[in-house]
Amino acid sequence: MAVEEVYLDGKYLPTADASVSIFDRGFIFGDGVYEVIPVYGGRLFRLQQHLDRLRYSLGEIRLPAPLSDKAVTLIFERLLNGRIDDASIYLQITRGCAPRNHTFPENITPTVLAYVQDLDYPNQAYREAGIHAVSFPDQRWQRCDIKSVSLLANVLARQFAYEHDAAEAVLFRDCKLTEGAASTLFVVHNGQLLTPSSGHSILPGITRDLVLELACNHGLQCQQTDISEKQVKQADELWLSSSTKEILPIVKLDGNPVGEGKPGPHYHQIIKLYDEFKLRFRNGEVS
Ligand code: PDD
Repeated sequence: MAVEEVYLDGKYLPTADASVSIFDRGFIFGDGVYEVIPVYGGRLFRLQQHLDRLRYSLGEIRLPAPLSDKAVTLIFERLLNGRIDDASIYLQITRGCAPRNHTFPENITPTVLAYVQDLDYPNQAYREAGIHAVSFPDQRWQRCDIKSVSLLANVLARQFAYEHDAAEAVLFRDCKLTEGAASTLFVVHNGQLLTPSSGHSILPGITRDLVLELACNHGLQCQQTDISEKQVKQADELWLSSSTKEILPIVKLDGNPVGEGKPGPHYHQIIKLYDEFKLRFRNGEVS
């Protein structure tokens, strides 16, 4: 379903009536940050973690938060308008509008946009069959921990994947795994779950944290570490995670099967734990 209503700078508007100046620094410079928050049964999943990351991103680009957590939450609730299905929320904050000049303008009002979108990704089919991915050089900047709207390198990587019949690009920098074009990556190698260490090279994924929490609490050995290209190519299992795709198994990389070329036993275990957690969340038992 198309997005019908958006929140823009204090107003709730039909999408067709919402417009932003051509001088918005998000448009001119990609000077802004964003969040994507899953909604299950009308409830905002891991909301505080997303708000904390938003605050971190804003801080790192030196943009004072224009709204409190409470105000942002109220906007989300108003946009959801009593919806009780699954969806996701997109929130974007840019530095605002000013004549083009790289330095921060004084007395500028940030532009805040938010809307609810349907979850239209065929996760169930992909969970069962797995997805294909391709390797691609990580050509992004050196602050990938900031959830910036400047996503050109991610766009080019994902487009390369699409043009090679793959759903995701697996990014490598200096022969080491970083992440996907829009996802965190996990490798199962010799019975251990590995994922790249947090730092400036990857986004601190909210789903990543939950995967690590669930896996570690259930006895799977987890390690945040450097992962070489060779280890990825020899992985028994390879997964991606993100707020909209949850956890998906990658069964082919660059045309070669990953492990046995089908979702592996550890994947079946983690997705079961993830679904159980989601169910408890829907029932209000966990946040
Ligand atoms: N992207 N790494 C990158 C580069 C991402 O863009 C994303 C998510 C993730 C996973 O983070 P999380 O688990 O917090 O969603 C990792 C969102 C979904 C997007 O851009 O649409």
